[in-house]
Amino acid sequence: MKKYDIKDLKLANLGKKKIEWAEKQMPVLRFIRQEFIKTKPLKNITLAACLHITTETANLLITLKAGGAYVVASASNPLSTQDDTAAALVKYYKIPVYAKKGESNKTYYEHIHSVLAYKPDITMDDGADLVSTIHKTHRSLISKIIGGSEETTTGVIRLKAMAEKKVLEYPIIAVNNAMTKHFFDNRYGTGQSTIDGILRATNILLAGLNFVVCGYGWCGRGIAMRARGAGSNVTVVETDAIRALEAKMDGFLVMSMVKAAEIGDVFVTATGDVNVIRKEHFLKMKNGVIVANSGHFNVEIDLLTLEKISNSKKEVRPFVMEYKLKNGKVINVLADGRLVNLSAAEGHPASVMDMSFANQAKAAEYLIVKKGQLEKKVYDMPEEIDRKIAELKLKSLGVEIEKLTPEQEKYLTSWEEGT
Ligand code: ADE
Repeated sequence: MKKYDIKDLKLANLGKKKIEWAEKQMPVLRFIRQEFIKTKPLKNITLAACLHITTETANLLITLKAGGAYVVASASNPLSTQDDTAAALVKYYKIPVYAKKGESNKTYYEHIHSVLAYKPDITMDDGADLVSTIHKTHRSLISKIIGGSEETTTGVIRLKAMAEKKVLEYPIIAVNNAMTKHFFDNRYGTGQSTIDGILRATNILLAGLNFVVCGYGWCGRGIAMRARGAGSNVTVVETDAIRALEAKMDGFLVMSMVKAAEIGDVFVTATGDVNVIRKEHFLKMKNGVIVANSGHFNVEIDLLTLEKISNSKKEVRPFVMEYKLKNGKVINVLADGRLVNLSAAEGHPASVMDMSFANQAKAAEYLIVKKGQLEKKVYDMPEEIDRKIAELKLKSLGVEIEKLTPEQEKYLTSWEEGT
């Protein structure tokens, strides 16, 4: 087997500079790294990570290695790898990486198999492809595995489905469910990086455009907020009544997808579900619209059908595929319907990944501390770790918060005092 599989080792110098740049904006992870150097909580552990190979992930992997782990990584999406970062991880940090930006689905899975050949004790996933591959085709690895962690909403949903069906064979920590993860990464991270991806791919002016956001979960909320900030008229499409109501009272237009298809200039999906934008919507769209996805998998835009109702398609800019429909109109799809923020831009900024990856590092440590005590279930991050990360982040930002007085604490725990 290859010792690593990346695009070009000569990119390593640039990658190292970018990793060091990101590190400056990751004070919480830096703090944990210093702790790990002293305590080595991951000594003798092989940790396989299937994460987006970015400068932020590099800082996480370096931290895990500092904690004593033998670390090996593959990409969690065929288009999200930063090839310079992958090269630097191999050359300067001696971490085997199996990832190339633009790899085929076949290579993507070959890379996952390469990582699994290291026989991990801990798995770290973003989308649950590592866990699902282990459960489908590498079951002999299960007995050695202590546990795993999961970064994203879609992965947590998949893993909870496995636990529900009683097929999950080892404990998982749902890092996504930490408050210091999804309140910030999913909302402010996805919000900013999705707009960043659309702008880098297209260089359009967002002011005055009709911008349609499909899904009003944490990611959709962030995208809608940032699109409004850029001067777009934002419409939300949502299937859940409570979320739709929230979007309405947040001041957005709320309508069905068929109606939104008629008015939108830019469409972004962030639902985690399949075929959110499909034939009946494509056929109603205006000429020249832009369609992108920010959900984990490339299933939200029905590209197979788009292809069938088109006469031709061609790449008109990097990450922009122009489909010429049989009805004479043009639809531009960004990044093949894959995560636009990680494909056409660099994903979430380091400052927000700081908290997500602080949670990942602490989740790995927690799995070791609790070895043998956890069930084959999906666990939330322990709240005390979550709060500690918030405190460290606030400290790094120079923010001091108010403390309850003893009298206030007592008041909050008493029932006797009323009107
Ligand atoms: N997910 C979203 N943004 C990311 C980033 N910058 N690094 C790793 N995973 C991400």
